Amino acid sequence: SPSVVLEMGHVIVVGSGVAGLTAALTAAAHHRVTLVTKQRIGDSNSWFAQGGVAVALGHDDSAAAHIADTLAAGDGGCHSAAVEVLCREGADSIRRLIELGMPFDRAIEGDTGSGAGDDLARAQEGAHSRPRILHASGDATGRVMVQTLVAAVRARNIELVEERFLVDIEIENGRTRGVRLAVPDGSEHSVEGDAVIIATGGAGMLFEHTTNPSGATGDGIAAAARAGAVLADLEFMQFHPTALAVPGTPLISEAVRGEGAVLLDRAGRRFMMEVHPDAELAPRDVVARAIAECQRRQPDVPVMLDATSIGADRLVERFPGLTAACARHGFDWTSEPVPVTPAAHYLMGGVHTDLDGRSSVQGLFAVGEAACTGVHGANRLASNSLLEALVFARRAATAVDAPWPHGSPSSVNATPLPPHDSLGDAAAGVAATPVDRLALRRAMWELVGLHRNVVGLESAAELFSAWTAPPAPSSFAEREDANLLQLARAMTAAAMARKGSLGAHFRTDASATADGSRHDPSGSRQEERRS
Ligand code: SIN
Repeated sequence: SPSVVLEMGHVIVVGSGVAGLTAALTAAAHHRVTLVTKQRIGDSNSWFAQGGVAVALGHDDSAAAHIADTLAAGDGGCHSAAVEVLCREGADSIRRLIELGMPFDRAIEGDTGSGAGDDLARAQEGAHSRPRILHASGDATGRVMVQTLVAAVRARNIELVEERFLVDIEIENGRTRGVRLAVPDGSEHSVEGDAVIIATGGAGMLFEHTTNPSGATGDGIAAAARAGAVLADLEFMQFHPTALAVPGTPLISEAVRGEGAVLLDRAGRRFMMEVHPDAELAPRDVVARAIAECQRRQPDVPVMLDATSIGADRLVERFPGLTAACARHGFDWTSEPVPVTPAAHYLMGGVHTDLDGRSSVQGLFAVGEAACTGVHGANRLASNSLLEALVFARRAATAVDAPWPHGSPSSVNATPLPPHDSLGDAAAGVAATPVDRLALRRAMWELVGLHRNVVGLESAAELFSAWTAPPAPSSFAEREDANLLQLARAMTAAAMARKGSLGAHFRTDASATADGSRHDPSGSRQEERRS
């Protein structure tokens, strides 16, 4: 028979950012739902999203324009059917969110995106052909969206299980049977479920510098791989161009550049003018690499972001959280430029899924940053991630009842990764060194970061294969270390396998896009690629 009909009773959602909360809410309309989260409900990468959510909602915009921008930013790496779904279903998801009470900011004088036919404020961000970024509380869109969804989840009959670590996904006769969870004291227990939806977010903690919170350790992606799920596109790690260059590298939203902030080198020159016609609003990977290169030319002096031309009143009103964050670190950004650095931000790859979030393992779904539908290609368009979480989580939670097609998802370009076993610990007889998280993050930053080449990748692979995961992890931190090691190996292997540059994956030892564009060869770039 061409498909298997699953009888869906109990749906387990793991992760409580925008994707997990949306999946739980949607599934709860027809199913018993348990929502599991590693920390407290709402603790997630979504919480920290500043700029907002991109959506073609106004009469001066169209899904077609949003699709074109997403494909171009993705550098030819996008799966165009996923992009169509995202941009065409986005407006409906946003309307539902507004119905739940999401208080998007309303336009005020001086806003860029007026004339859209409603009173919603719209911001401009890099590689968007027009202002279409909705935001809330200025620069706290993710937090407000999470709070809105958490309130809705709490009002439903959804079982909430906090402070549980996803140890493994349980598989029986080739299909998902539930999850094994750990509690903080180290003990473990199983929860049976008919479908498991992984919404555990990304893995920014793989890198020394990241905008992500400490929980972003790729736990769901690693567990899915151990359960046999195919991963895809792990070499595509997005580095945000502008984190404040202080410990913890807090994000400075792209919307700040959208409002007119510029990047300056040590001579006070706008170096982006020579790199790309869109200068500071070029695609994110282009800006991030240009900053890193500028930084290399002036190792002792940071690259600066100058937002002073926006004006003190506007800066404080539009970006209250960022104004406070700068002040906490001793900067008054209304009167002086602030130092910035690129930082690991968003994983475009993850658990390979079809357009309904189905992985290659029956009954196992993945949504949000943990998933790879191919929607972001090799470089995610700014502010498409919250929209992705809303749209694809809803689709997956609706698809739990649908027949399960045979075979693995056919829609996306899976980067074939070595089977999980071959990414395992050092062979018997080789002296094992316990994984050192700080050293791993430093090695990933230096050798598997913005600029990659075979020499660096091989030495990273050698280092990671000599380490072992904690043999009997008891704390959450040790379990995270094991997942980080597993994913560091997998990401390094994926980066080695792609010998050409594409989007965020930049090989200094390759010329142009040696591996070529895989889905939409039309993805056009104006950046001069270095060989
Ligand atoms: C930002 O505000 O720059 C981050 C938004 C995003 O990553 O899409």
